[in-house]
Amino acid sequence: MSDNNTTTKAASVPQQRDAETATPLLQVKNLAKHFPIKGGFPIRRTVGAVQAVDGVTFDVNAGESLGLVGESGCGKSTTGRLLTRLLEPTAGSVTYRGQDISHAGRKQLAPIRSEIQMIFQDPYASLNPRQTVGSIIASPMEINGINPSGGREARVRELLEIVGLNPEHYNRFPHEFSGGQRQRIGVARAIALEPKLIIADEPVSALDVSIQAQVVNLLQKVQKEMGIAFVFIAHDLAIVRHFSQRVAVMYLGKIVEIADRDSLYLRPRHPYTHALMSAVPEADIDVVKKERIRLEGDVPSPISPPSGCRFRTRCWKAQDKCATEEPPLVQISGNLPGHLTACHFPEDPTTERTQDIILDPALVALEDEPAGGDKA
Ligand SMILES: Nc1ncnc2c1ncn2[C@@H]1O[C@H](COP(=O)(O)OP(=O)(O)OP(=O)(O)O)[C@@H](O)[C@H]1O
Ligand code: SF4
Ligand SMILES: [Mg+2]
Repeated sequence: MSDNNTTTKAASVPQQRDAETATPLLQVKNLAKHFPIKGGFPIRRTVGAVQAVDGVTFDVNAGESLGLVGESGCGKSTTGRLLTRLLEPTAGSVTYRGQDISHAGRKQLAPIRSEIQMIFQDPYASLNPRQTVGSIIASPMEINGINPSGGREARVRELLEIVGLNPEHYNRFPHEFSGGQRQRIGVARAIALEPKLIIADEPVSALDVSIQAQVVNLLQKVQKEMGIAFVFIAHDLAIVRHFSQRVAVMYLGKIVEIADRDSLYLRPRHPYTHALMSAVPEADIDVVKKERIRLEGDVPSPISPPSGCRFRTRCWKAQDKCATEEPPLVQISGNLPGHLTACHFPEDPTTERTQDIILDPALVALEDEPAGGDKA
């Protein structure tokens, strides 16, 4: 937990502030969120449920970045909101540093509120237009009653510097900044209390492509220098590849594959992962076998998902078993340790690209550049 002297510069914070133990920072087990659907007149009752997240299990280790990818509506944001306890789960558990917070009340959550922060997709909607940048960034300190030794204003100026903004612009309002600069303000707010975990939900999707790499680079800088663990939710597989050590692929409320990034990008075993990879432009990552797999049809409704494997209605490899038996998320034959796949008839493990993944050149160029670059 942050103490009352949270004034250390990001660069001087040890890489891993918490001694890494065998226990993951965050443990998610069989997590589910079903949103009830109400109907009927005059008495309204529950007539169904949107199974937004349905039995998700994964860990996040201290200081690591876990990418979460998948098509629109597959439950990524709902998962993120469950982790930060903006939502309460229908079933399953979220354990943070050994403490089950799945149904924790306000009082139990208070001490860890400062340790888990969220960065949102829309840098326009997530900042209060009537507050100055100074008071926006200072708000987590105010909420948690933290008074840094040099004062809150000094700390805010320091944070502005860390995220590559001009500390003199402390009294400006959000509308006086560009989209990329606003997202930097969101990052400054998120790191103000030196959290242990940040859930970043599509943090660069709303930004201009030319700005995306700069913000990703900034996030990578704070992740490395402050030892912050990230759950990085994104559509862009090239950016996720760049930012995350491990990646989980979601489909219709479930994780269908999870692995370290090289295993996942070089040897995708789930047909859905394979299809997602093949849809990425070759400039961003080298394409599996140079063939494009087009996913037919739409994602089915999460109100009545298909039986067995949820991907079966769009899978070119589906057989009878896929309709009757749900494939468990396990380490199947041919996978490296830690590479789990939920499929009865997985892709050939020799489906490996012969060349290295080619990252977006803009990301590569920014790799070692300081976080500044678009000072307000
Ligand atoms: N409060 C809610 N009430 C009812 N249904 C919801 C609610 N929030 C999300 N859903 C539904 O849950 C499913 C998952 O939504 P979620 O926002 O988690 O998806 P996502 O993967 O983040 O999508 P995107 O990539 O478009 O952001 C969707 O079908 C969505 O309509
Ligand atoms: S279990 Fe069957 S339907 Fe599902 S991904 Fe594997 S092959 Fe396709
Ligand atoms: Mg979302």
